[in-house]
Amino acid sequence: MAPNRSPEKAEISAIYEIGKMLTSTQNLTRALGTSLRTLQSLLGFDRAAIHLPDATTREIRMEVSAGYAAEERARATYVWGEGIVGKTMKSGGPVAIPDARQEPSFLDKTRAHGKAPDGPLSYIAVPIKIGNEVLGVLTAERVGRAGTQALEGDTRTLTVVGCLIAQALKARAAIDSLHAEFQRQRRELEKTIRKTYRIENIVGQSKRMQEVFASVTSVAPSRATVLLRGESGTGKEMIARAIHVAGPRAERPFVTVNCAALPETLLESELFGHKRGAFTGAVEERKGRFEEASGGTIFLDEAGDIPLATQVKLLRVLQERKFERLGENRTVSVDVRIIAATNADLEKLVEEGTFREDLFYRLNVIPIYLPPLRDRRDDIIPLAEHFLDRFNKEHGKAVSFAPDALDLLLEYRWPGNVRELENLVERTVVMSKSSVVRAGDLPRAIRMFPLAATPGARSAGTASAGAPAATASRDEPAASPAARTAPSSATPSRADHLRALEKEELRRALESAGWVIARAARLLGWTPRQVAYKMKKHALASPWKG
Ligand SMILES: Nc1ncnc2c1ncn2[C@@H]1O[C@H](COP(=O)(O)OP(=O)(O)O)[C@@H](O)[C@H]1O
Ligand SMILES: [Mg+2]
Repeated sequence: MAPNRSPEKAEISAIYEIGKMLTSTQNLTRALGTSLRTLQSLLGFDRAAIHLPDATTREIRMEVSAGYAAEERARATYVWGEGIVGKTMKSGGPVAIPDARQEPSFLDKTRAHGKAPDGPLSYIAVPIKIGNEVLGVLTAERVGRAGTQALEGDTRTLTVVGCLIAQALKARAAIDSLHAEFQRQRRELEKTIRKTYRIENIVGQSKRMQEVFASVTSVAPSRATVLLRGESGTGKEMIARAIHVAGPRAERPFVTVNCAALPETLLESELFGHKRGAFTGAVEERKGRFEEASGGTIFLDEAGDIPLATQVKLLRVLQERKFERLGENRTVSVDVRIIAATNADLEKLVEEGTFREDLFYRLNVIPIYLPPLRDRRDDIIPLAEHFLDRFNKEHGKAVSFAPDALDLLLEYRWPGNVRELENLVERTVVMSKSSVVRAGDLPRAIRMFPLAATPGARSAGTASAGAPAATASRDEPAASPAARTAPSSATPSRADHLRALEKEELRRALESAGWVIARAARLLGWTPRQVAYKMKKHALASPWKG
């Protein structure tokens, strides 16, 4: 577009175009370049440049330019106050020179003007500023066509453009600093996570856990697949993270996928990603978790629930570290360590035909078994103390367990393992009104259900990870009908033991309630009807009534 139409109109169009460009861009550097070229095309400047100071050295450099060769641009560096650019930077006011060749402060650092045609060289420098803060300098020049009026008009236009550029630079600086802050927080968080999951921070004094730690240390350096087995809440995910952070992949991602949570198609797209439209609902293209875990570790939780069709694909990843996104032919290769976890009896699933035998062997390269908490009672007190410490800090309290409470924790069966203990401690810390928690303050389930593992339960625990978990979770408090009427799920001695405990609990409550049923019911958290019923069942009667 020629600059020969009405100058005001051209000015307004230029400002409009540049404003639009600077506010609607992701790539600021490119938008700044285009803005300078707009100054050339709409207003007829021969050259234009944006000069910005280095944040630390304060040296001012020509960062973006139009009409200068690369080597000319490279030569244009100024110290604060040097040349017209340095002066504008320092003073914050515009400088307009009708003929730069006559001006001693014009240094011609670019040496772009040696071959300039005869005639004046008008040169304008305006600050790029917001309020009083000068962020940089915008310069523009015309060869051979200067006039005072034009010079004034140019200075006005460039001043406005300088303001627009300042706004854009400021906005980007704000985004950059947010981004930097976000990155810093992420690094902090990752550091905390790495520290939390360091093996020294995992509690386990028992011989069995010491063995687990030894396995973690020995498998961490390699990429070998690990299969973590054990009941729910025994610490499988925690150990998976410990393996990750103890190995060479610690700084790379650790990605968790719960294989039980998603139906088949969704699980596959979660794992391998998909092309747009690969299936109904696949609106956007999506990277899979395997790609996200690239260079790091993928943790496949509840691996026993992977559908057969997905098992085939997973087998290929395990064998070749290759897969395709859903709906795509392109093969993706990844370097990922695979750690799987399950509380299912995989051997049985293989027998039943719901889990591929070849996949089982591929996963089972290094099995690590996490024993249920009841099989490593040495860990109960240290774990309870570890959680007390943590939750006291978190909730600003100073709660501790009295010896009789610790005794109960030691005797309890912990069907939910470490997670159950962790939850119990948190609840106790939050709810407790006094600083010492006694046996009587613990939840009823724990008071009524202390049960050392019978030898039978112990051996079942090692033979199959799945079975004891299932039994344990059915073992609700003794009051449940299942526990009373279905002794098949418990050995006879256990049922007897339970009944004795219940009777003892009931008798104690009745005694301290002076045998007033309603009061005993309140103590136990039962209904008076339940108390009456159980008194009959256990042949308990008030000593004062016939
Ligand atoms: N040895 C341990 N030391 C400290 N915390 C533990 C330990 N084992 C488990 N936990 C905690 O118990 C909870 C359950 O552990 P998790 O790894 O999720 O079990 P799983 O994956 O086997 O269900 C988590 O909050 C975990 O931090
Ligand atoms: Mg888990």
